[in-house]
Amino acid sequence: MMWPALVLYLLIHSSEGRNVTLVKFQTDGVASMESMLDAGVGRIPSLTQVTVCLHFRLLHGGKRVPVVSYVVQGFDNELLIGLSWNEHSLYVECCRDMVVEDLPLVVTLYTWQHLCVALDLIDGTLTYVFNGELNKKEQIIDQSKMRGGKRVQMEGGGRLTIGQELESLEGDFDITQAMDGEIADYKFYNVILTPEEMVSFTTCRKGPSVSSNTPLLTLNNGLLELKGPTTKSNISEYEICKKMTSYLILIPKKEEFEGSVTTCEKLKGTLALPKNAEDNVNIVDKFQHFSSHCEDSFLSLFWAGAKGNVSTGQWVQLTDGEPIPWHNFSGSSSPVRAQHQCITVFGRNTRYFWDETPCSGFTTSCPLCNFTSRPLLRLRGLCQSTWFDRELYLNDYENERPKVDGALHSRVVWDNTSWVMVSRRHQGLKAVMYADTSDTFPIGLRKWTISGDKCAQRQVELLLTLCSKEEFTCKDGTCIHRDKICNSYNDCLDHSDELNCEVIKVPRGYSEDNFPPSFTNDPLSIYFLINITSIRIFDLTSFTIAIDAIWHTKWNDSRLTFTNLQTNYQTNKARQWQRVWMPMLQVTDGTKSLVKKGQRAGVLYVIRRTEPLLDDEQMINEDHRYSGDNNTLMHQQQDTLEFKCHCDLRLYPFDTQRCYLVFRVQDLTHTRGALLKVELELSNQYRYYLANVFLPSFMLSLVCCLTFCFDLDDFTDRIMVTLTSMLVLAGFFAQTSQSNPKTSYLKLIDVWYLVLICEVFGIIVALVYVENLRLGPQNHRTTKIAPYSAPTANTRHKDISAPGPNTGHKDTPPRSNTGHTGKLVVVNRFLVGAFLCTSIIILICFCVIGMNAINDCGGVLVPWRNYIQ
Ligand SMILES: *[C@@H]1O[C@H](CO)[C@@H](O)[C@H](O)[C@H]1NC(C)=O
Ligand SMILES: *[C@@H]1O[C@H](CO)[C@@H](O)[C@H](O)[C@H]1NC(C)=O
Ligand SMILES: *[C@@H]1O[C@H](CO)[C@@H](O)[C@H](O)[C@H]1NC(C)=O
Ligand SMILES: *[C@@H]1O[C@H](CO)[C@@H](O)[C@H](O)[C@H]1NC(C)=O
Ligand SMILES: *[C@@H]1O[C@H](CO)[C@@H](O)[C@H](O)[C@H]1NC(C)=O
Ligand SMILES: *[C@@H]1O[C@H](CO)[C@@H](O)[C@H](O)[C@H]1NC(C)=O
Ligand SMILES: *[C@@H]1O[C@H](CO)[C@@H](O)[C@H](O)[C@H]1NC(C)=O
Ligand SMILES: *[C@@H]1O[C@H](CO)[C@@H](O)[C@H](O)[C@H]1NC(C)=O
Ligand SMILES: *[C@@H]1O[C@H](CO)[C@@H](O)[C@H](O)[C@H]1NC(C)=O
Repeated sequence: MMWPALVLYLLIHSSEGRNVTLVKFQTDGVASMESMLDAGVGRIPSLTQVTVCLHFRLLHGGKRVPVVSYVVQGFDNELLIGLSWNEHSLYVECCRDMVVEDLPLVVTLYTWQHLCVALDLIDGTLTYVFNGELNKKEQIIDQSKMRGGKRVQMEGGGRLTIGQELESLEGDFDITQAMDGEIADYKFYNVILTPEEMVSFTTCRKGPSVSSNTPLLTLNNGLLELKGPTTKSNISEYEICKKMTSYLILIPKKEEFEGSVTTCEKLKGTLALPKNAEDNVNIVDKFQHFSSHCEDSFLSLFWAGAKGNVSTGQWVQLTDGEPIPWHNFSGSSSPVRAQHQCITVFGRNTRYFWDETPCSGFTTSCPLCNFTSRPLLRLRGLCQSTWFDRELYLNDYENERPKVDGALHSRVVWDNTSWVMVSRRHQGLKAVMYADTSDTFPIGLRKWTISGDKCAQRQVELLLTLCSKEEFTCKDGTCIHRDKICNSYNDCLDHSDELNCEVIKVPRGYSEDNFPPSFTNDPLSIYFLINITSIRIFDLTSFTIAIDAIWHTKWNDSRLTFTNLQTNYQTNKARQWQRVWMPMLQVTDGTKSLVKKGQRAGVLYVIRRTEPLLDDEQMINEDHRYSGDNNTLMHQQQDTLEFKCHCDLRLYPFDTQRCYLVFRVQDLTHTRGALLKVELELSNQYRYYLANVFLPSFMLSLVCCLTFCFDLDDFTDRIMVTLTSMLVLAGFFAQTSQSNPKTSYLKLIDVWYLVLICEVFGIIVALVYVENLRLGPQNHRTTKIAPYSAPTANTRHKDISAPGPNTGHKDTPPRSNTGHTGKLVVVNRFLVGAFLCTSIIILICFCVIGMNAINDCGGVLVPWRNYIQ
């Protein structure tokens, strides 16, 4: 009766150190379809409730790696509970496809995780608890697959395995679904556990047995048979349940202190520091076998992550600057001295001592790096269909060097002569790294020779980097955020982030002579914008215009890809623009002749319009890439264009000129491409002419009209004023003509002058006529001779029959002669009116013509118009 009591005693008192059974699959390091736990055929009855609980630790991922695989005659996956590392999911399938669930669950490698899955076919619920987190899904049974009201159940009599996926009763396993790792405390129940029980199991809560129910299958009840390279052992529950906070890797390469710090930093870790005596002993014992690699003349094993502060005399931790919690210096407390500011830890043979040493100089030791989890690495540069893993972890050692273990099956190891990449699944698959020295580590950009891979690549450069997907690897191995590449700041210490900043990637086979292809029937659209900044020359007399203009052409070229685009397009200047197709513009003017251009070269920019493409791990470089479909190329050119313009000056100075510039893409036929026509509309600044030409000349003509109002007898003044006006008008005319463009036809301004001159001429004629009228018809062509002695006022109309002796003397007409006044005044008045009317009519006519001409362009200068035909 002593035994049960003792067992109970042990169970209770060793609750912390309770041992559970552990099964390890694939123990011989190669992927095999032999390694599994097999319950055999016929051991499992029909079930309506199933619960599976286990602790697991996977060393490699896989797709639907089974924790339960159960088949019956004629149907595989009668029950499959599988873990998908790639897809972060838990896959549950049961009962002839009536239950198929893919549930979110993030499986991490190398750490112990705890899972319970309860499938209740009566309620149609699925409950799963992962690391203490409870999830429940209801109505999991697909009613459409139910047959004839039969009870939904998992059929009995089949075969059950753990660690391999059964396709039939005979096996037909799938190597990609083989489990590599360990399971512990496995329990398969034919009942549903309560959520509390499952949470208790998955959080390793201490206490009495997890469930009072007896499991159908455990690792110990003799029903599960170990097959293939599989081992069974005991492990304390404490080992399984303790949180892994740190993971240590010693790099077996001697370095100075600062070098060790950066080595660990590049691996995204920190230099380790033992915190107590037990820690110290454990760590030293674990890495003691590296002593031959690390010990120098001082026989120290590794650098401690602490440094002395001379001013305070304290030893402080590198991580947080706090004083170190524990030390094992050979003396009592060792003061910090200026020459000795670093600590090395000694090996077992030197009794785990610590010693203060110089940080540099001839003291070297190994870096011992502390990580919170296994450092994740990425392999870039392999083709799409490669068998090698792209995601790897720094994990453990092989042949005394750190090993980089792929997430699925490949690994990078030192084979005593070189670094190789081999696979535990594919025998012939191998890649050998080329290295100058034997201690080159494979992290970074290295040359590899590949054999046996699905890709045709033989000699390739591969980049093994610790940087995450959002980061860029500097040449020295440090990581910066991708957005910082090519942003004109040196973010990498070695400046490698600003080295390859060409924004355009021209693919092989690209021809700059061919137009960008279009996948639709639409023509290639080229956007064109011209910005005339100034009019440099405007010479109307020679019909020459020179303008300063900036013009942009924009188009999309789907053949290209772009890299590292910034939102500000001016940063995205292309240097390789000669290798890219550009719409070469030919500019002709209204006279159909080529326009003279300066020889200023343009600039090609890329305008970013979309988010970057998804990262492509086939590329070594980690630049952001952008598709050519949606991001736009922009060519910007600034130049002076000198061209001729056909001017129609009939309405000058109220004219509006339309000048054309035709931008044509060279080599483009009318049927295929677009013509761009820029029309310049230039209207004359007529106000100048109003003040300088029209107003004075019109006033002169008015003055001429006004001469009719002068004294009728004062012919001299009348004719003089008119003649002078005419002279002045002619002078004006000559002067304006000189500064105006010369044309074969009459311009409006010429007509104006001509009309005015004609009018003045008419006035002169009229004046002479009036004068003649005044002199009278009877005096016409007669010379009146009056006697010298009798000059009387009333002799003017005397008969000519009395000729006087004073021949030759012309008689001055009397000042006022009312005899003819009535008729004369009428004629004079009529002429004043007529000529004033003429003047006003002339003015109105010109106003109307001028206003019409001005209204044509609204009186403002329209800078440019853009036509796309
Ligand atoms: C648990 O197993 C370890 C070895 O793995 C053993 O040293 C220890 O004594 C065992 N403890 C119990 C309670 O069985
Ligand atoms: C595991 O421990 C049990 C007792 O708890 C013991 O009977 C068994 O032999 C141990 N197995 C191994 C492989 O150590
Ligand atoms: C490793 O880092 C963890 C977390 O920062 C820390 O708790 C632990 O003490 C460190 N271990 C060593 C040996 O430095
Ligand atoms: C030493 O400690 C003092 C006080 O804490 C601090 O101001 C100083 O920066 C430290 N010196 C070094 C080199 O860390
Ligand atoms: C250093 O630690 C070891 C192991 O814990 C111990 O044997 C040794 O006495 C310690 N040395 C000193 C100087 O404390
Ligand atoms: C490398 O050398 C170790 C011993 O130094 C040996 O055990 C191991 O088998 C060797 N590995 C290879 C791949 O030659
Ligand atoms: C045209 O150029 C001027 C001067 O360079 C600038 O201020 C203006 O914004 C430009 N307009 C367009 C539409 O580009
Ligand atoms: C280029 O593609 C973008 C995005 O698809 C589109 O908005 C733009 O209009 C295109 N540009 C040209 C010139 O076709
Ligand atoms: C980019 O262009 C492609 C085809 O030209 C189109 O299918 C896609 O929707 C575009 N993407 C964006 C973000 O405009």
